Amino acid sequence: MMRAVRGLLALVVVVGLVLAGAFVFARSKALGRLDKTWPVHAVDFPVPFPLSDDELAALRAEKAAGLDPDAGVVDVLAGVDVNALAQERAVARGKHLLESRYGCFDCHGRDLGGGTMIDAPPVGQFFGLNLTSGKGGVVSKYTVADWDRIVRHGVKPDGRGTIMPSVDFLSMSDQELSDIISYVRALPPVDREQPRPEFGPVGLVLLAKGDINVTAEIADHQKAHERFPPSSADPKVFGKHLAQVCVGCHGRSLKGGPIAGGDPSWPPAADISHSALASWTMEDFKRALVEGKRKDGQPLKVPMSFITAYGGKLTEQELVAMWTFLHEG
Ligand code: HEC
Ligand code: HEC
Repeated sequence: MMRAVRGLLALVVVVGLVLAGAFVFARSKALGRLDKTWPVHAVDFPVPFPLSDDELAALRAEKAAGLDPDAGVVDVLAGVDVNALAQERAVARGKHLLESRYGCFDCHGRDLGGGTMIDAPPVGQFFGLNLTSGKGGVVSKYTVADWDRIVRHGVKPDGRGTIMPSVDFLSMSDQELSDIISYVRALPPVDREQPRPEFGPVGLVLLAKGDINVTAEIADHQKAHERFPPSSADPKVFGKHLAQVCVGCHGRSLKGGPIAGGDPSWPPAADISHSALASWTMEDFKRALVEGKRKDGQPLKVPMSFITAYGGKLTEQELVAMWTFLHEG
């Protein structure tokens, strides 16, 4: 009897040691992923972008239309503050980008003063930091290159990778990022201090297994970014650009599957590739993206049901472009 108990105890100790060893190994592997530093190219672009030649031409035509041609006015834009106009338009574009596509509010809060990505202690506590100029804000000293590094490469100012999923932002153009910066800088300051991400044991194992993505590992850190988003004149090309914000969940091939780093209760993302949507109509697509309903009218589950908050803000032209790309492939 004693021998049996002793045997059992020994087994428990051995299993315990093996598990502890496996955990120590997983922990060091996980933290190793986040300790690695990534050299990222240095970029520069204006904030805000100045008015384009087309915008200036349209403005000239608009002003000239209101003038008496005999009055001899040489510069119709004299007295027009083009810089203030550029700033105003950049902030409006940035607001639209965040409301309709780029999900910064989801984790950084609707006021961007700090929010929650995941708050589940066994997995971890991951808070989006404060992006305003208030107390606890982290971007007050940010250069344009710092913004590029964190948003389009998933790399923090100290060169280390982060779990902030930037996979949806990899093909954001310079102008879009500049517009987002203009919008963020124009926000009222919020005083809120958020702690840095803290991993729990389950989160460390998921990170070690590769079930939580580190964008820095997949981004191309030297490839030049596009200066502008593609023109809306070609809906397929423009739609492909817009649909890049769907890849974080639906995968780069858009074929769906389990969502990396997502809540374990979420269903796998659906297949929304060209062949899967072959029998869909534009109306079916709008119902999914704007009303959160499947083709058969049943409600879509979380987290797709959250996406309708964004889908409803896309312009008709953007919805059509996204649909054209997804449907025609
Ligand atoms: C899914 C959640 C999530 C989304 C979406 C998200 N972030 Fe973050 N972000 C985080 C987390 C978590 C951190 C803290 C990362 C860390 O310290 O490792 C962070 C950190 C940051 C930082 C500070 C980095 C530093 O260390 O100085 C900036 C700037 C930032 N995010 C900007 C953005 C912008 C802009 C967007 C939208 C284009 C965005 N984030 C979208 C979760 C998110
Ligand atoms: C946060 C993760 C997430 C994001 C981002 C996301 N989706 Fe989804 N999507 C899902 C999940 C999960 C489902 C499956 C929902 C269900 O089973 O009810 C889904 C389902 C769908 C469906 C329904 C497919 C069907 O067969 O019923 C469509 C259409 C769709 N998504 C389009 C998009 C588009 C377009 C985007 C980008 C603008 C997008 N999704 C972004 C997670 C996401």
